[in-house]
Amino acid sequence: MTETELLFNPFEPGYTDDPYPTYRRMRETDPVHDHPFGLWMVTRYEDAVTVLRSKLSVEEKLVNAGMLREQYDAIDADTGAGTILSLSMLDRDPPDHTRLRSLVAKVFTPRSVGALEPQVAELVDEGLDRIAADGGGDLVESLAFPLPFEVISRMLGLPPTDHLRIRELSGWLVRSLEPVPDDETLARVIAAGDELAEIARDLIAYKREHPGDDLLTAMIAAEEDGDRLSDDELVAQLVLLYVAGHETTVNLVANGTVALLRNPDQLALLRERPELAANAVEEFLRYDSPVQQTRRVTTAPFELGGKVIPEGSFVSVVLASANRDEAFWGPDADRLRIDRDNARQHVSFGSGVHHCLGAALARLEGRVAFERLVTRFPGLAPGGEVRWNGRINLRGPAELPITV
Ligand code: HEM
Repeated sequence: MTETELLFNPFEPGYTDDPYPTYRRMRETDPVHDHPFGLWMVTRYEDAVTVLRSKLSVEEKLVNAGMLREQYDAIDADTGAGTILSLSMLDRDPPDHTRLRSLVAKVFTPRSVGALEPQVAELVDEGLDRIAADGGGDLVESLAFPLPFEVISRMLGLPPTDHLRIRELSGWLVRSLEPVPDDETLARVIAAGDELAEIARDLIAYKREHPGDDLLTAMIAAEEDGDRLSDDELVAQLVLLYVAGHETTVNLVANGTVALLRNPDQLALLRERPELAANAVEEFLRYDSPVQQTRRVTTAPFELGGKVIPEGSFVSVVLASANRDEAFWGPDADRLRIDRDNARQHVSFGSGVHHCLGAALARLEGRVAFERLVTRFPGLAPGGEVRWNGRINLRGPAELPITV
């Protein structure tokens, strides 16, 4: 099969601007697809849920899913961050997963997160002030990026850091969640992981000297407490929380805004009934998933959709495709409907033991952002063409021009 004939070819020009026709083709022709990249891709809703809820592994020593097999091997050969970062809870099975997750889970419950609402509202308003001052501009710069970045930085209790550098590095690191087109990109992904791990070590050293009432101080206490958390594990959890805390929610806010701007009737509805914002956030998550795929590894032959996935296979669960599966959502699966009754059944946060730890936080940030955005700017409208970030997995706008 040549590259142009691939059922899923993320390197095709324009693919990341709109991957949904590809997902539809996959669901219709080969929903449990043995891809020549060396991974199995699962695109239907019911199959996705089956995989997520079964006890497949996530441990493959390496950072993350979706890469080509030889790209994994290159990261494996690297002695640096690839190995350390794969000590995060996202890449561990129980009982280690349970131990790591329980160390921080308390802070992310809906109740603890709910207490952050006034702070979140204040940060949203700061973003909206920037937009008002410019009469619009790039929503990613003014609101979608700074909001989650600042929220997770405060929760962790991080000192002011080189935000621009961290933003650039995490932008590279998250590409370890997808196939990369060439060796140069791969080298940058690996180097970014190494540098982020170094920055994390510096932040931990700083926090040891300046403890506070924050999450990183609590994690350091657990590490010092004995055998609950090793030094490298601490680095890995910090990088995971930092990166997962903002690289995803930025897409929720920006993809959701694109969806509203492209569906003016839905924008009008939300403006009329801002109390729909919580449900609208669920629909945005369904309609254009901030994380398009997550992964598992089979530990035994796994039967799915009439096929047998061999032991030791990477399985990519295409959340964004499951979220548009007409067999589950009905004939209007491709339509944005912010009052959709069952929107919350999307799989954008995954499912099973790895279900997104930050889901309540992301929901809060999203709800407050949309409630205030549409009420403050009744004239919200597109200000130019959206420029997509070119990522296959953590896909969203790099630039989203608006006018108000
Ligand atoms: C895991 C999505 C926001 C922290 C995950 C997973 C997905 C996801 C798909 C993997 C689930 C699985 O494989 O079953 C999202 C989306 C977000 C978001 C769409 C925003 C809209 C956040 C935030 C944080 C966070 C704000 C805060 C720190 C985590 C962590 C994990 C995770 C720590 C690993 C959980 C585990 O392995 O037990 N997220 N996430 N996420 N997310 Fe999120």
